[in-house]
Amino acid sequence: MPGMSKGSIGLDEALNDYILRVGVREHPVLARLRERTAPLENARMQISPDEGAFLQMLVRLLPARRILEVGTFTGYSSTAMALAQDDDDRILCCDVSEEWTDIAREAWTEAGVADRITLRLAPAVETLDALLAEGQGSLFDLAFIDADKGNYDNYYERALQLVRPGGLIAIDNVLWSGRVADESDQDADTQAIRALNAKIATDERVDLAMTPIADGVTLARVR
Ligand SMILES: C[S@@+](CC[C@H](N)C(=O)[O-])C[C@H]1O[C@@H](n2cnc3c(N)ncnc32)[C@H](O)[C@@H]1O
Repeated sequence: MPGMSKGSIGLDEALNDYILRVGVREHPVLARLRERTAPLENARMQISPDEGAFLQMLVRLLPARRILEVGTFTGYSSTAMALAQDDDDRILCCDVSEEWTDIAREAWTEAGVADRITLRLAPAVETLDALLAEGQGSLFDLAFIDADKGNYDNYYERALQLVRPGGLIAIDNVLWSGRVADESDQDADTQAIRALNAKIATDERVDLAMTPIADGVTLARVR
């Protein structure tokens, strides 16, 4: 299944295992959440522990006091980021699945971060447009985009308005298991990610670093 990660693409299993052993301090709630999610058919949508640690580092460095997450699933990335925040910081999560986000809610409670997190269950384009209409433009320090790939450009454009200058947009799965570099791959999701990558490459509204962590994470700092 493309676009999902057990570790960073391009690294062999031994090296990925090594990173997990010495490069990540996974919170016990996150480890249990991986076990809880593993039997699900879509378990591979969950971000990997090393990506979780990377997001936590971004949250601490910014620092990201207000976070927007597009694509929550069973809650690994949101729980990881919330654990890196202070008590009065906030995360707004967007998803369409009650079933999966019910598991996320359990993790938030277990981690003691539930009161930092608001979940909006609706198509994320609608939620982001509502946030803009509510006057929440430039109020977020960090946006993490990890939902349906066909809407990636819609999420990016809205995140540019919702994240403050100097804040960060982090976009997951930008390498799509390497398929973005295979021009014979004309799958709709591959094309959507490839088109956004090409657009951001010359987008003067952001500073850019595409990283090969997990399935590829683009960091776009809003100018
Ligand atoms: C790759 S998963 C997110 C993984 C998550 N970040 C984690 O750490 O486990 C993608 C999520 O996007 C959600 N999604 C798909 N289409 C959506 C849409 N139009 N609006 C909001 N969420 C959507 C799915 O329900 C799914 O939970």
